[in-house]
Amino acid sequence: MAARGAFNSRLGFILAAAGSAVGLGNIWKFPFEVGNGGGAAFVVVYLAFCFILCYPVLVTEIAIGRKTQRNPVGAFKALGFRNWSIIGYLGLASGVLILSFYNVVAGWSFGYVIEMIQGNFGIGQEFGSFITDAVKVGLYGIIFMATTAFIVSNGIAGGIERAAKILMPSLIVIIIGLLMYALTLPNAMEGVKFYLVPDFSKLTGDVIYSALGQAFFSLSLGMGALITYGSYVSREQNIVSAGAFITLADVGIAFLAGFMMFPFVFSQGIEPAGGAGLIFITLPGVFETLGPNIGVVVGVLFFLLLTFAALTSTVSLLEVPTSYVVDEHGVDRKKAVWVIATIIFLIGIPSMLSNGTVAWLSSFITLPGHDNAISFMDFVEDLAADSFLPVGGFLIAVFAAWVWRKENLNEELAAGDPAIRGTLLQKYIDFAISYICPLMLGLIAVVTILDRFFGIELIKMVFG
Ligand code: TRP
Repeated sequence: MAARGAFNSRLGFILAAAGSAVGLGNIWKFPFEVGNGGGAAFVVVYLAFCFILCYPVLVTEIAIGRKTQRNPVGAFKALGFRNWSIIGYLGLASGVLILSFYNVVAGWSFGYVIEMIQGNFGIGQEFGSFITDAVKVGLYGIIFMATTAFIVSNGIAGGIERAAKILMPSLIVIIIGLLMYALTLPNAMEGVKFYLVPDFSKLTGDVIYSALGQAFFSLSLGMGALITYGSYVSREQNIVSAGAFITLADVGIAFLAGFMMFPFVFSQGIEPAGGAGLIFITLPGVFETLGPNIGVVVGVLFFLLLTFAALTSTVSLLEVPTSYVVDEHGVDRKKAVWVIATIIFLIGIPSMLSNGTVAWLSSFITLPGHDNAISFMDFVEDLAADSFLPVGGFLIAVFAAWVWRKENLNEELAAGDPAIRGTLLQKYIDFAISYICPLMLGLIAVVTILDRFFGIELIKMVFG
């Protein structure tokens, strides 16, 4: 077993797993979903989903990994259920596809650090041409993937854990620093109000559905990333409480991101736009108004924050196929990492070019029931992130509760946490994994696949 590597410390594992969870999703997507979805009302719903629905899946993934000390494919085989290793293969496919486009956006973030260092605040207005510049975006993509590969090639303790121990604390320091500064700006309180004033009327069926999907994606569930990280954890460790810390860290950092973002935006009296637009188009202009010196410092720190968040996520995405090739095919880790990273980078090239560079990739496909064509990158995202992950999560819950069985899951949770036996928490995890998670994740999977690929909007049909 020693050859597989292991986390050196409990804190190291928690930071690495939290690093996987905290990513682009937390910093660019969550704040805007909160602002638009009813402020504090949305936060309450999101928090409930994280703990009621996602937390049981999270500890289950970690438990499967720790029990078997294997990658997601090997784990199901090691438990004696060969057929169920289909979950692992689905996870591998999800991981490879997600990393292929995630790395593109991560590359943009890193590119923006370079632009900010040069004081090029105009980049926000040039975002459209920035992302079509194949040379620039290709170069940043290579740098990002190579950095990810470098970290993963150094193994669990020496690579992943060490990087998480540097990147995560830095991320927290940066986010708190930026947040405190943002709160001193004029109109900061307007931003905080937009962010947090609860408005329950905005909690529509659609908003609740996207909160569910976002919570699940944000915790890196459904593809065995946490099976993989769990496989490097020792049996003395308490994974029940570790899981709670990981969940809290993910939600906490997402929540802080909004506290920082909206005061910046409102200090300029700008109406916040969504997603990529807010981060890459609006914010550079806001930073410019802070003056040439502070603007550069704040701009660099902000995009460094985004880059660090993305990096700990790409590391865990790459570790999934790596662990598979190392465990199942006995390939040397270093070799495996560089080959896989190269392949995934190549798979990502069409995504990279589908934001305006190459016309047919940019309007790649018009799915049934939809009016407009979507880009290759959006297509991969719809497929892997939005569809495969809930399917994977559904299968993991069904497997753990009904195939592997609750007694075995409980046994594994109790290793390192004997006190959990017979507690309410243990009973809740059993109940959730048996009923709530399969039901909800199955529902999300069906609703999403019908919506994305057939244009059938079940949520609208039911809730109006
Ligand atoms: N959680 C990451 C984010 O919020 C993205 C992500 C989804 C992920 N699934 C993953 C990262 C699996 C690593 C492994 O940005």
